[in-house]
Amino acid sequence: MTVTRFILERYADALPVTAETPLRTLGEGGTPLVRSRVLEGALGLEALYFKLESTNPTGSFKDRGMVMAVAKAVEEGATAVLCASTGNTSASAAAYAALYGLRAYVIVPAGNIALGKLAQATAHGAEIVQIDGSFDDALDLARELSERHDLALVNSVNPHRIEGQKTAAFEIVDELGDAPSLLCIPVGNAGNITAYWRGFGEYYRLERAGRRPRMWGFQAAGAAPLVSGAPVAEPETIATAIRIGNPASWQGAIEARDDSDGLIAAVTDDEILDAYRRLARDEGVFCEPASAASVAGLVARSRAGVDLSGETAVCVITGTGLKDPDTAMAMAVESAVQETAADVDAIDRALGWT
Ligand code: F0G
Repeated sequence: MTVTRFILERYADALPVTAETPLRTLGEGGTPLVRSRVLEGALGLEALYFKLESTNPTGSFKDRGMVMAVAKAVEEGATAVLCASTGNTSASAAAYAALYGLRAYVIVPAGNIALGKLAQATAHGAEIVQIDGSFDDALDLARELSERHDLALVNSVNPHRIEGQKTAAFEIVDELGDAPSLLCIPVGNAGNITAYWRGFGEYYRLERAGRRPRMWGFQAAGAAPLVSGAPVAEPETIATAIRIGNPASWQGAIEARDDSDGLIAAVTDDEILDAYRRLARDEGVFCEPASAASVAGLVARSRAGVDLSGETAVCVITGTGLKDPDTAMAMAVESAVQETAADVDAIDRALGWT
């Protein structure tokens, strides 16, 4: 099946695309929906798929919202974009600013950004400010600065971001022929769960889907304000992408949960890393830790005794593992990389073949 990897064209009717919207693309969307080899049976699901948003141009789902937001910013006359980020938003904003010839400014929490993401923003020529504070502080500052200066704010508080991101829900329905019964998704600033719920809702109202999924959102236990019901002042988790204590789209996440008869639950860092390992080893899916939260949550529900038989679930894999090589190497067993002489006998011995 050939799909257009350009959401502004493929889904123009459902997006705020006008005759004046400039249409450039790096190839967003059209991402694979991969059937599980091992977990589906292990959890007793009828079907389990992974939506590989990690295969977007900059390696995360952010590109869907960013291509829309930056195109609209250009349409409205902007010459520069600004965002706060745990890493992926800044990588994506920097890439799309380069595509459209704008300047990009990003504010990130110092010491809590995976190396690959910082490398991307740097390579694309963004101006990066690291602050001694959390993502939530960075977002407050970015909002204030965007009022003080002539800058387009491209965080998901920008409504065009949510519009672009909802197209992932369209793609899932277009491919499966209907909505799944369950959609599992990591939740940080809560823009993405809001966007998926909107996308499923729009397709349902257009009768392109016969149902809407229950939305199961998962936060890291050290950064789970939507689970506790109160902001977390000092969020902490290995999944730095979702290390967020006061999500901007709080209300959108609660609506997605309640209107879908879904849930938002916490998963521990150990559960996240276990899912991260299983995805890589058993499914061929190398994602970043935050992305594994969707699978960790599904596994945890199963362990808690929830009957998943009859369910068709989609877990959203939000970002690629290449973003965060440090976590991958820290998880490697000691014997994974060995040094030997450049010699067949030495390699035979090292691998235990002789
Ligand atoms: N997964 C990844 C890989 C992310 O980068 C993010 C958010 C999320 C999940 C959560 O999505 O915020 O819409 O609930 N990253 C943002 C950033 C905050 O700055 O890159 P959300």
